[in-house]
Amino acid sequence: MSIDEPDNFTIHNYQPRDEADILSLWQECELVVPWNNPLTDIARKTADSPHLFFIGRIGEQLVASCMAGYDGHRGWIYFLAVRKAHRRKGLAARLMRHVETKLIELGCPKLELMVRDSNTSVITFYRNIGFNPDPVMVLSKRLTEDDEHNFA
Ligand SMILES: CC(C)(COP(=O)(O)OP(=O)(O)OC[C@H]1O[C@@H](n2cnc3c(N)ncnc32)[C@H](O)[C@@H]1OP(=O)(O)O)[C@@H](O)C(=O)NCCC(=O)NCCS
Repeated sequence: MSIDEPDNFTIHNYQPRDEADILSLWQECELVVPWNNPLTDIARKTADSPHLFFIGRIGEQLVASCMAGYDGHRGWIYFLAVRKAHRRKGLAARLMRHVETKLIELGCPKLELMVRDSNTSVITFYRNIGFNPDPVMVLSKRLTEDDEHNFA
């Protein structure tokens, strides 16, 4: 634990009572985009695999999130976020270690994630905790549209 790492940081599974706080966290961290309704994202995750949706608290305050997935072949990371006031204290690294432990317990052999290549500070973060770039192109295809929202 680094010298300024809060020792009252605790990690939990997301609960419905966390919805407003998660939304506020994602808005602060600019993770809410017009084409994804965050409440729909939360509803899909809690219906599919709530055991892989994590929040971090300092005391009672929700300060961090990470939505993980495991498809039977690879693990995936989404919505990793830490409130601005609590950054550079090792919280995201701690949360990621917790998620990696949970995924290993499920038999997951490798983690993957997507970061915009312009997001250099986040790339530095991920490289610092052991991720390396792969020479791949990410292709995607939208299957359904989310309802419109006003959260972005
Ligand atoms: C990315 C993010 C989750 C990191 O959270 P954090 O709790 O501040 O990260 P940590 O304190 O665990 O950082 C661990 C190490 O990563 C590196 N790092 C983290 N943030 C960095 C930054 N902005 N610039 C450069 N290096 C950084 C550092 O090496 C750091 O160790 P150090 O502070 O001892 O130098 C946070 O900046 C964030 O919420 N960003 C906005 C949301 C986002 O873009 N999420 C990723 C979506 S893919």
